[in-house]
Amino acid sequence: MRVFVAGASGAIGSRLVTQLTDGGHEVIGTFRSPANAERVRALGAEPRVLDLLNSRAVRKAVLEAQPDAIVHQATALANLRDFKHFDRSFHQTNLLRTQGTDSLLAAAREAGVDRFVAQSYASARYARTGTWTKSEDDPLDPTPVPAMRETVAAMRYLDKTVTDAGGIALRYGGFYGAANDGLVEPIRKRQFPIVGDGAGVSSFIHLDDAAAATVLALEQDGPAIYNVVDDEPARVREWLPALAQVLGAKPPRRVPRWLARLFAGEAVVMMGTESRGASNAKAKRELGWTLRYPSWRQGFVEAYAEPTVSTVTRLDRARRAA
Ligand SMILES: NC(=O)c1ccc[n+]([C@@H]2O[C@H](COP(=O)([O-])OP(=O)(O)OC[C@H]3O[C@@H](n4cnc5c(N)ncnc54)[C@H](OP(=O)(O)O)[C@@H]3O)[C@@H](O)[C@H]2O)c1
Repeated sequence: MRVFVAGASGAIGSRLVTQLTDGGHEVIGTFRSPANAERVRALGAEPRVLDLLNSRAVRKAVLEAQPDAIVHQATALANLRDFKHFDRSFHQTNLLRTQGTDSLLAAAREAGVDRFVAQSYASARYARTGTWTKSEDDPLDPTPVPAMRETVAAMRYLDKTVTDAGGIALRYGGFYGAANDGLVEPIRKRQFPIVGDGAGVSSFIHLDDAAAATVLALEQDGPAIYNVVDDEPARVREWLPALAQVLGAKPPRRVPRWLARLFAGEAVVMMGTESRGASNAKAKRELGWTLRYPSWRQGFVEAYAEPTVSTVTRLDRARRAA
């Protein structure tokens, strides 16, 4: 298959390009920053600089590439710090999820591309009532916190527009598995507290498993929505101290809701105390997806732990024996 990956230089995009080329697919990989051309080429893709917010450029790039499938993995989330002004921080990503999706879908229609897969998000999307782990059929939050309204609407727009066009929206869990993951520095610096009772549930996904599910989704007929998350949705009070320990950081601070609301805003309070996680049963069943990192417990250790003396000794022995 000839696959057009928008956002090929990113955390998920780069792993996806690698898995697609390893699987024998041809990839056209787009990026925004010109400096990323060589990186995308080194991954095995034909590099193509593209601003997804320029619809004429998107049309030209897709018509020239003549792909069999398009994957939309472009976001502007790296280095995100300010969750208090949530919609302001997510504004560019929201444009990529609305206008960017529209441009790619219009180009896909014109080029006769009928396979379309796009990045969506799972954690903190579902209604904050009832069970703590939700399936794709469960209702989304009907009353998002005001600071997140634009962002929540953009994700809904993407899910609906993509599936209305016969495509597949992948509601990923929180990505981890790269050295520069957004979670790492705030936890190392004890800037990521447990809010209130820390009952909010997060769903995570290792980037390699996220890419594997995306490759499988490209072979699946749409329309469909899949939660692409690991097997173990977990409360913040459980996963946050565990990750701090893996990172060698001090245990997270605990702050009352009112204080978190004051300094970090309502979205952070909601995610820390009420957020629902997601079930991956449908993705496993329909995509035949198996996870290399079924739980963040094992995944965090493999992604972030400093090699222990015993690991180093084992690797050293293996090297000498080879
Ligand atoms: N999901 C969340 O809610 C959330 C929240 C906080 C932090 N994060 C962090 O965000 C990252 C998410 O991974 P990701 O792969 O989605 O993001 P990423 O690693 O930042 O990659 C984004 C991709 O989109 C491209 N891009 C950006 N603006 C574009 C534009 N206007 N037109 C076309 N392409 C554009 C980038 O190109 P260039 O690289 O060339 O610019 C890059 O290829 C992770 O590092 C995660 O820790 C996520």
